[in-house]
Amino acid sequence: MRADLLEQAAALLRAGGVVAFPTETVYGLGADAFQPRAVARVFEIKGRPSFDPLIVHIAHPQEVDRLTIARPPQADCLMARFWPGPLTLVLPKRAELPDIVTAGLPTVAVRLPGHPLARELIRRVGSPLAAPSANRFGRTSPTCAEHVRNQLGAAVDLVLDGGPCEVGVESTILAFSEDGSPILLRPGGTPLEAIEEVIGPVALPSSTSPTNRPLAPGMMERHYATATPIWLMGEDALPPTPGRWGLLSFRGTRRPGDWALVEVLSATGDLKEAAARLFDAMHRLDAAGLEGIVAERVPDRGLGRAINDRLRRAAVRRKP
Ligand code: TXA
Ligand code: MG
Repeated sequence: MRADLLEQAAALLRAGGVVAFPTETVYGLGADAFQPRAVARVFEIKGRPSFDPLIVHIAHPQEVDRLTIARPPQADCLMARFWPGPLTLVLPKRAELPDIVTAGLPTVAVRLPGHPLARELIRRVGSPLAAPSANRFGRTSPTCAEHVRNQLGAAVDLVLDGGPCEVGVESTILAFSEDGSPILLRPGGTPLEAIEEVIGPVALPSSTSPTNRPLAPGMMERHYATATPIWLMGEDALPPTPGRWGLLSFRGTRRPGDWALVEVLSATGDLKEAAARLFDAMHRLDAAGLEGIVAERVPDRGLGRAINDRLRRAAVRRKP
């Protein structure tokens, strides 16, 4: 990365601009979290409803105190173990942080990204960056600069190219209920098993009652969607119409069929590799002019949980 480009990106952000930047998970669409008008442009460019809050990215663990007023002891254990990295913590917010960032919620989602370029950018801006994934609302997330340019192109002041994202699925989001017990809001790049090793059992949203479940307004059923409809192998009844079909395969072990295009996530069955390739494979299948995409689920452990979550949401039909 050329230092002058990085400095240009930082200058744009300081001046209230919107810059797409790489993280280890997916590309983010960033604005200075303390400039509400810049943050408003992020919502506008993404086509994101204003009730869906953004994650705030910091460059150093201490900066969490600029954003939050308190945190349960487990949060410190998790920060020490997993930051920098793909784990986002939802914590009580400071009043100084503009409400537009958190969609009026009393909490803020904070994350310290693992990508050195993201941290260097935040450091140079001198302020945390509010950033959702740099895709149009509801669509497939970007894991390289080209995905961002294809979806958002000229609307963004600058796309900082940091190469392909290493993790490839978004951060794991963890919230805490009033009694301090942890709740998984989104499976992601930090495996649930690894989190539970540090803080013990984590409640899944389905196993928590509606009363103690924190608001997760952005957890849309339909999400990560390709323009081409996706069907889940063995779960959705496939439409009988013949045509050009694509297969999103985990290991590529299925008997060859009449597929117009096959994308294999990991021939060796490595879930890390599969996660890193997932969105790129979805973007490629989507660009191939197919009638539909059939996707295989992966084992539901480690990063597989995040992959299956993305596939399931991408396969949710748009309401007629
Ligand atoms: O890996 C990631 O987390 C990427 C990169 C760019 O950092 N970001 C990302 O942002 O995935 P986004 O906006 O696509 O997803 C953030 C999710 C949304 O579903 C949003 O509703 C939720 O985080 N969220 C944000 N603030 C929240 C809060 N205070 N309480 C509950 N959920 C929150
Ligand atoms: Mg997103």
